[in-house]
Amino acid sequence: MRVAGIIRPPGDKSITHRMLMLAGLARGRSRIAGALTATDVKSTARALRLLGPRVGVLRRGAAVVVDGTCWRAPTRTVHCGNSGTAARLLMGILAAHPFAVRLTGDGSLRRRPMGRVTEPLRRMGATFTTAPDDRLPLTVRGGSLHGIDYDAPIASAQVKSAILLAGLVGDVTVTVTEPWRSRDHTERLLIYLGCDLRQEGTRVTLAGGAAAKLVPFDMTVPGDPSSAAFLVAAAILAEDGELVLERVGVNPTRAGFLRVLDRMGARVERADERWVGNEPVADLLIRPASLRATEVSAAEIPGLVDEIPILAVLASRASGESIFRRVGELRVKESNRLELLAANLRAVGCRAEVQGDDLYVAGSDAPPQGRVETAGDHRIAMAFAVLGTLERASVTLSERASPAISYPGFFDDLARIDTDAS
Ligand code: S3P
Repeated sequence: MRVAGIIRPPGDKSITHRMLMLAGLARGRSRIAGALTATDVKSTARALRLLGPRVGVLRRGAAVVVDGTCWRAPTRTVHCGNSGTAARLLMGILAAHPFAVRLTGDGSLRRRPMGRVTEPLRRMGATFTTAPDDRLPLTVRGGSLHGIDYDAPIASAQVKSAILLAGLVGDVTVTVTEPWRSRDHTERLLIYLGCDLRQEGTRVTLAGGAAAKLVPFDMTVPGDPSSAAFLVAAAILAEDGELVLERVGVNPTRAGFLRVLDRMGARVERADERWVGNEPVADLLIRPASLRATEVSAAEIPGLVDEIPILAVLASRASGESIFRRVGELRVKESNRLELLAANLRAVGCRAEVQGDDLYVAGSDAPPQGRVETAGDHRIAMAFAVLGTLERASVTLSERASPAISYPGFFDDLARIDTDAS
């Protein structure tokens, strides 16, 4: 295809969840502009409404207004839909509230591990009633907490954020050390709101007494780099043209895919770098490029964990064999993304295999053709939809509804940038 246009990708999913929750905790009225309006954040909004805060309607193009208040015990089970971030971050906040809440999720979320969050929160003093495998549905009963100095076995922003939020609401000092640095949106927001939060390498400490600092705010959500990544990839794979993506978050803990693309031979230019709140954003300028294979190291994974599906799809078009090291975490995302990625790449005629926790993808020129099973995983669906834009490609997705989980207008935007289609 020939690519053209200027697109503003939707609001950042991670940041929207966090701003909604923090606004729900701050007593008074907050206003959030540019919020994502996808199904995942609607799950957070619905959960918050059950817990007391008043959250306005999430409508594209309009700011959402949140009236934060004292949280109360909900009258029914809180359903987190497909959202791991909603479930895990709410668990952190609820750990500091003196009532019982039952949390559940859809089939995908009920298969995902929650022990990584219940374990440190139990150490802080919260009680969780769960099945022995520590999955949803579960009941959290919070109360008065003690501080923690936690060495996290995995780099996970959800685990780190659950602990920081428990410390914030419970008014105790918490420290989390990660093996590698995961996305730092919670930290940036807390600093922006005036909390005493210190970072040193992969260690972050939130000092007790932060709860009093939490006041209503008026903030804007930057564009989601993880959603932008699909359009970036479509433009790289195009035959000709140029695409501009406006106001995309380029936080270094999220922009790992841009560094990898650079290595693969696709230079994405950043224009007008600026700040939105405490987050750096830029306009991205993307042109088609020929790609070469690369090796993505374990240390790089947290900075691009959600971009592995689209990077693997790009690797299938590069010259040579690419390796993604230690990507075992992908087995517990919205689907078993690791096996599903490899199986779907093979289903469209590419060579890909999983060895231990590593993913190998061989590049090819042959047009991808075949049927892709998405298992309802939004990022698998979008990655293979992008592969389907190649000349002579014929890629059928098992469903096209899942992108609405994180990127409601995805198929429209993909069609808009394709000047051959219009
Ligand atoms: C997220 C953290 C990541 C990411 C997820 C969103 C967040 O998960 O994959 O899509 O908003 O904190 P982990 O914390 O499990 O790595």
